[in-house]
Amino acid sequence: CGIVGYIGGRQAAPILLDGLQKLEYRGYDSAGIAVLGDNVIKLQKKTGKLIGLRAQMNESMPTSTVGIGHTRWATHGRPSDANAHPHLDCSGRFAVVHNGIIENYLNLREQLISQGHVFRSETDTEVLPHLIEELYTGDLVETMQRVLEKVDGSYAAVVLSLDEPDQLLAARHDSPLVVGLGEGENFLASDIPALLAHTRRTYILEDGEIAVLTRDRVQVLGRNGQPVEKQIYTVKWEAKQAEKDGYAHFMLKEIHEQPRAIKDTLSGRIAAGDSGVTLKEINIPEEQLREMNKIFITACGTAYHAGLVGKHIIESLARIPVEVDIASEFRYRNPLLDRNSLVIVVSQSGETADTLAALREAKRKGARVLAVTNVVDSSVAREADDVLYTWAGPEIAVASTKAYTTQLVCMYLIGLYLAQQRGALGPGETAEIVAELRKLPGKVSAVLENGSDIENFVRQYSNCGSVFYIGRGLDHAVAMEGSLKLKEISYIHAEAYAAGELKHGTLALIEKDVPVIALATQADLFEKMLSNIKEVKARDAVVVAVAMRGLEEVAKEADQVMYIPRTHQVLAPVLAVIPLQLLAYHMAVARNCDVDQPRNLAKSVTVE
Ligand code: G6P
Repeated sequence: CGIVGYIGGRQAAPILLDGLQKLEYRGYDSAGIAVLGDNVIKLQKKTGKLIGLRAQMNESMPTSTVGIGHTRWATHGRPSDANAHPHLDCSGRFAVVHNGIIENYLNLREQLISQGHVFRSETDTEVLPHLIEELYTGDLVETMQRVLEKVDGSYAAVVLSLDEPDQLLAARHDSPLVVGLGEGENFLASDIPALLAHTRRTYILEDGEIAVLTRDRVQVLGRNGQPVEKQIYTVKWEAKQAEKDGYAHFMLKEIHEQPRAIKDTLSGRIAAGDSGVTLKEINIPEEQLREMNKIFITACGTAYHAGLVGKHIIESLARIPVEVDIASEFRYRNPLLDRNSLVIVVSQSGETADTLAALREAKRKGARVLAVTNVVDSSVAREADDVLYTWAGPEIAVASTKAYTTQLVCMYLIGLYLAQQRGALGPGETAEIVAELRKLPGKVSAVLENGSDIENFVRQYSNCGSVFYIGRGLDHAVAMEGSLKLKEISYIHAEAYAAGELKHGTLALIEKDVPVIALATQADLFEKMLSNIKEVKARDAVVVAVAMRGLEEVAKEADQVMYIPRTHQVLAPVLAVIPLQLLAYHMAVARNCDVDQPRNLAKSVTVE
């Protein structure tokens, strides 16, 4: 979900609406705004995207210079006007917006109901305004401290109060919240893009902190209630980077940004003369590097898929065993970790609750944690022992593209780095891979220029019911990402299969005209892959191959081939995924789907 808050000299409502617009990628099934009026909190809420709320408010834009807003991704309670935030207490004196989950809300709710409180929504959040009302002492800060003592779970919450109209109060635990510092005005947001139109000077709140915003001052209090001296974090990226820049969708823009993003991620990290990599940001003690006997990669969604590719890369380059876990599983399976394990957490946003919980579990068990993330100073970045940033720039489309390819680049860097430290790779091969890494941005551009084959396929198959993606080794990992992209944004059922496993069951689903996307980029698996293509062709499937130049024999079996330029076999995933991203994109457009904001999903999921 997205949160915004404003207190200053200007009209709050338009500022809040614009801020929410920038955060819609965090959730968009309902939205709402509360501003302070004369002796009343004025509330406007609406199911559906922000555009609906905007239309409703345009008829009667409330005037006020203080307010809060929220765009929701439903967890507790379906999307509805009543469940949309902000939520009020019974008397209408306190309004609250909240991200996260109040885990003990049912108990709190029952207690409050027995004390006479009347609830209007099904949300966990609504317990907060009622608790504030119940415990209000005449001092909102003190009251909030007491409220938070009763609450278990995660939150970023902002409170607006009629009794103390010249302040906004914000609290954070396990859900991101940023203060924007202005002149005679101050801002709050769950994410930086909402602030950039107004300020680059920010305070990033830490867990347990409470911020009190007035027009002229922001005071931050620590867990013990004592004031905290905050460092100002100045945002370096441009607001324009979070705009569409003439592209029809953010996703298409981000797909096309990949050559630049990959270049930036490599920059300064590969040594001149292609002799190896330098990762100054990794400070694993030498002894620990020597003793390291196992690596775990844990992440969610697309980042998990980058981890699957990472396993192949690290095992083949550094010869250390790697396990990959979905973060929400890792935490609860009692993984066998110790101080000789390295846990790599991968997260574009650095705020995914499941990933953060996995990171904490790894640290609790004594493992060293290396984060690969795109957001500087995100929770994951701050809690890990070492951080390798992907320099992809802000990613707005829910379906991840440039974050994925830059995560892959980080996997190569980590693989080469560990190989170097442990002497696992000869200088010749290191130099060859590094030289090819350098050429990747140019080769990605070449693949991007070759999009016409895809549109042809889309014209014929945009109404199909199901698509299969098959591949072996690294290609299987890429197939999983390709299939996820298609499902996420075009709502077509898709399945990724290890090509050799198809005959053990799934082949039953292959019949006439079922599209099969066959990845064939790995020369040493090529013959076996050809056999698998023949198997599906024998069942009358339509086969579109994504193959590396040099493996042209595939054209004899496949109905259509999209070629990627030649490169070192281990680097093929970065190129092979591009046609799959474009395919998903064009399918979604052909089917009139909402590409950047697919139904039921959100970019950054800060609840477990
Ligand atoms: C959400 C998004 C996915 C994303 C996943 C992990 O579910 O819809 O696109 O891959 O979170 O996000 P992260 O920010 O941790 O990479």
